[in-house]
Amino acid sequence: MANDEENVGNVKKLLARVFELSLQATVPDETDVEPIVTASTVGRFGDYQCNNAMGLFSKLKGKGGGQFRGPPAVGQAIMKNLPQTEMIESCFVAGPGFVNVSILKMLLDGIDTWAPKLSIKRAVVDFSSPNIAKEMHVGHLRSTIIGDTIARMLEFSHVDVLRRNHVGDWGTQFGMLIEHLFEKFPNIEAVNETAIGDLQAFYKASKQRFDDDSEFKERAQKAVVRLQGGEKRYRDAWAQICAISRREFDSVYKRLKVELEEKGESFYNPFIPSVIEGLTNQGLVEESEGARVIFLEGFNIPLIVVKSDGGYNYASTDLTALWYRLNEEKAEWIIYVTDVGQQQHFEMVFKAAKIAGWLPTEANKYPRTSHVGFGLVLGEDGKRFRTRSTEVVRLVDLLDEAKSRSKAVLEEREKDKDWTKEEIDQTAEAVGYGAVKYADLKNNRLTNYTFNFDQMLSDKGNTAVYLLYAHARICSIIRKSGKDVEELKKTGVLSLEHQDERVLGLHLLRFSEIVEEACTNLLPNILCEYLYNLSENFSKFYSNCQVIGSAEETSRLLLCEATAMVMRKCFFLLGITPVYKI
Ligand code: ARG
Repeated sequence: MANDEENVGNVKKLLARVFELSLQATVPDETDVEPIVTASTVGRFGDYQCNNAMGLFSKLKGKGGGQFRGPPAVGQAIMKNLPQTEMIESCFVAGPGFVNVSILKMLLDGIDTWAPKLSIKRAVVDFSSPNIAKEMHVGHLRSTIIGDTIARMLEFSHVDVLRRNHVGDWGTQFGMLIEHLFEKFPNIEAVNETAIGDLQAFYKASKQRFDDDSEFKERAQKAVVRLQGGEKRYRDAWAQICAISRREFDSVYKRLKVELEEKGESFYNPFIPSVIEGLTNQGLVEESEGARVIFLEGFNIPLIVVKSDGGYNYASTDLTALWYRLNEEKAEWIIYVTDVGQQQHFEMVFKAAKIAGWLPTEANKYPRTSHVGFGLVLGEDGKRFRTRSTEVVRLVDLLDEAKSRSKAVLEEREKDKDWTKEEIDQTAEAVGYGAVKYADLKNNRLTNYTFNFDQMLSDKGNTAVYLLYAHARICSIIRKSGKDVEELKKTGVLSLEHQDERVLGLHLLRFSEIVEEACTNLLPNILCEYLYNLSENFSKFYSNCQVIGSAEETSRLLLCEATAMVMRKCFFLLGITPVYKI
């Protein structure tokens, strides 16, 4: 839980930095002046003050003078030298040189656009990345949700993000898929998703054929070679299978409102030979048990870049994709979102890239790569999340259930009486999908979490439902006031007198700093925690400070509006659609 002191401390820190710069410019010869910044206790004196003037004046005097006539003049100079910053709305010097600054305007003037400034221009976020002909499972759901949030935070910070779907669309499994396709559909043009039906079942059936029939197995192995050789009939069949899978993936992305651009494993095939050749010329690739490998210090197995049968593998593709992203796409930060089980693979690929001189060896220098690992999704039994029939859980079924459960709640509350069918539907989606996303994002991603509909759809505790309702409630307070809040923003004054107003206001001011922390550390749970605390601080304010009909109505409505704005921005960054009424 955030407390007042923590919040004050943080805004203070930000302001202290600003005043430090001003002090350096004001008295460049004094090297040991610490900025003294305090929160103003009296509302009309702005919000914070810098109290250095008096002490500084006597110090300079003690040294035999200085260019200032008195503490107020020192205060004036400090004010004049304040760097340009969006934080400070207005400032003035009072009494013996106290420099008062008011930072509240920020709350209303685009705090939601007050984005962190990162030092890079372009990033690749490699996420979701399911495999063709296999079902997208909850692991891919985690990657999709976490990756999307990271991409959103980077985009918000003005980074150009290439959202990459590194689909598993290549490999030996295509041999059996294609042969099975030929067997079942001699007239291949007629094949479409309705004909194939369930692609996962199709995969299983071909695997069965592969395991049971050695003649089929042989044909499948030959099919791989013919596919890789570019034979048209095989290429077409492959493309058809990919297209069917793609449509299924896309329907999930559409529901989750996630944008992705597919550059699957096959995309990098043409570049692999020259990349491996480059590494070989650098003397990095060695022969080992018939395969070609890179030995890496600190790992007890080598990175295999060419298999003993001469084929390429997951690592050859990832090395090549990294090369492509650095050299062709000019990305400075390349982020991979997969389960922690793939951590070693990525550590090895990154290490190889460092030895090859593609990446600097220093940890935080750009261009750089990061593996964003995440834990398992568990069922109630504490084991890997599965359905009763021990199959992997189908993503679409999960989303369907989340939606229908939240729809049932809305109907129970008889919302269908005054809402349109669309409104019910949209709200059920926003709440249901939002709940699934938030339940995932709020945990530290490295820990496993238990998938529990009842918990994630509860309107109490740290859930999306609670947060979405809190937002809707704020909107309804504003609506009920009958005031035009846009008009108030132009003419009204925001002042934070009550302790709970102050706590809320200062929490709001930390928004940008939190996004930066969540984004640079690749930890979306930091943003969730901020949002939850924001909502808690709002509740406290609302139960202790009357809004409508009070003398402070205007100011308090503005505080409501600022809270709603920041909540919406948090929702946006978490990929959650806000609702405005409940
Ligand atoms: N297709 C892989 C899987 O399902 C994930 C790919 C992640 N990205 C990458 N560049 N290797 O496990």
